[in-house]
Amino acid sequence: EKEPVRVLVTGAAGQIGYAIVPMIARGVMLGPDQPVILHLLDIEPAAEALNGVKMELIDAAFPLLKGVIATTDPIEACMGVNIAVMVGGFPRKEGMERKDVMSKNVSIYKAQASALEKHAAEDCKVLVIANPANTNALILKEFAPSIPEKNITCLTRLDHNRALGQISESLDVQVSDVKNVIIWGNHSSTQYPDVNHATVQTSSGEKPVRELVSDDKWLNAEFITTVQQRGAAVIKARKLSSALSAASAACDHIRDWVLGTPEGTWVSMGVYSDGSYGIQPGLVYSFPVTCEKGKWSIVQGLKIDDFSRAKMDATAKELVEEKSLAYSCLN
Ligand code: NAI
Repeated sequence: EKEPVRVLVTGAAGQIGYAIVPMIARGVMLGPDQPVILHLLDIEPAAEALNGVKMELIDAAFPLLKGVIATTDPIEACMGVNIAVMVGGFPRKEGMERKDVMSKNVSIYKAQASALEKHAAEDCKVLVIANPANTNALILKEFAPSIPEKNITCLTRLDHNRALGQISESLDVQVSDVKNVIIWGNHSSTQYPDVNHATVQTSSGEKPVRELVSDDKWLNAEFITTVQQRGAAVIKARKLSSALSAASAACDHIRDWVLGTPEGTWVSMGVYSDGSYGIQPGLVYSFPVTCEKGKWSIVQGLKIDDFSRAKMDATAKELVEEKSLAYSCLN
């Protein structure tokens, strides 16, 4: 039997936490033959609820689950973890300024960066989900200099999956037959969902989405805003933000990163920019990536038209602004 992998989930008493821990314990994230030990972190006010989650995990008797550590101590939580899923954060509340929310999250991510750097296993892979996800990941990277920058990512896979879902609904095809959409940039409403390289598997072979969707106006306008605004639409309907889809996307992100993307398929991940596609280095930006043997690489050489260029730059500009806001909170 394989050695168990230690998976940290912060904010584990919250909504996404409640949805993701059973997925991890069932092997959805790391595979059906990979035992896991869950490390659950939350803050003092949520300690009792966190313990309730631990009780339920025990009660579920998951065969792959070899242990549960539930704690409010970041050091205990980070000890020896191989995968860190960072869901905990400070949510924006009514009447709060953007700067106040940023300031809270910058201090949380700065502290957790140090705990991970000192106590996580070597080569720990980090996925930041809590918003502002790209900038929280950037802060984590800055304050954990000994963790390789390639190991720190943020979640835009939910946006990617939403784009696949919209195309599947619109064309009335199976979502599993759609691939290679791209989310560029920030996990925010400035993100750019790009279908220019996406394809659908049909009975007469693989066809570009651009060829199958005759309505260019839909692809260039409504499709984009629907994906950008999907999170808000779910909040309006559920009175709570996306949780099961976020948890599922997080499992997809880690699974593909660790086990590899299928041949000919790429996915979207928020990663530290190396300057690809003219995106300035020093931002955590969502790119199309393929993964192999536990490493991601940005898909190179895709043709970018003027329409895409403008949208890719607009979302980069927002990330530059977020970065400077985050830095102003540090001083
Ligand atoms: P939630 O409010 O239900 O849960 C958050 C949990 O984090 C709470 O239990 C809270 O006590 C905990 N927490 C707060 N500060 C903490 C700290 N310093 N250390 C550890 N835990 C801490 O929120 P929900 O719905 O689970 O969402 C979590 C985050 O994920 C939010 O920031 C949300 O905006 C973001 N999100 C990101 C998505 C993405 O695609 N990147 C999609 C959906 C949500």
